[in-house]
Amino acid sequence: MSDKRFLDKAYGIKRDDQALEMYEAWAETYDIEVMDENDYQQPERCAMALEKLLAPGIVPVLDVGCGTGLSGLGLQTHGFEVIDGCDFSAAMLERAEKTKAYRRLFSANLNQPPLDVDDDAYGAATAVGIFSFGHVDADALDEILRVVRAGGFVIIGINQHFYDEGSLVAKITALESAGKIKLLSKEHGAHVPGTGTTGWVFALERI
Ligand SMILES: C[S@@+](CC[C@H](N)C(=O)[O-])C[C@H]1O[C@@H](n2cnc3c(N)ncnc32)[C@H](O)[C@@H]1O
Repeated sequence: MSDKRFLDKAYGIKRDDQALEMYEAWAETYDIEVMDENDYQQPERCAMALEKLLAPGIVPVLDVGCGTGLSGLGLQTHGFEVIDGCDFSAAMLERAEKTKAYRRLFSANLNQPPLDVDDDAYGAATAVGIFSFGHVDADALDEILRVVRAGGFVIIGINQHFYDEGSLVAKITALESAGKIKLLSKEHGAHVPGTGTTGWVFALERI
């Protein structure tokens, strides 16, 4: 058992400066609390969703809000070989570096675009557990789509609480109505089973 527990607090965050403070303090024990103690399922679910759409291999994938690297490790396990990651917490990025799953890691606040990345640089992006209260705003999806090539994919894993909040679902609907994306699938399932929290995986195609 870790002595620094944060899962209960994570859904009560209101602003991204509070989120940053929390992840800086959580980095050391995040993997233990989230994965070892509570069986976090979204890295596996999101990697599986991408593998269904894109043959794994050397196509570059951006893991947006990579955290300690659990989501990148999920992609790597499914055969993706070229993975970049970004996050605004230096402490989380330091942990991600240790996984050796990433080609490039860089600092970025997704609520303050642009990312230091060219247009159309990636064949896909994953956003696993980052759209949430006081975390990454739904509008950041515009910037994520900018760095994914047309015909590429964005996979999003979110918790049920933020799904119910509605802003991400509304953003996806608006982008689809504007002809910028196609919603390929939307699946309800496990998020953090140890806490009883379920979640959703969205698969989007950039038009
Ligand atoms: C729940 S963790 C998910 C990390 C990883 N993707 C995973 O699945 O384990 C959320 C991550 O999003 C990052 N994050 C939250 N708000 C952010 C923002 N505005 N810009 C960049 N990263 C952010 C946090 O630092 C944290 O690493």
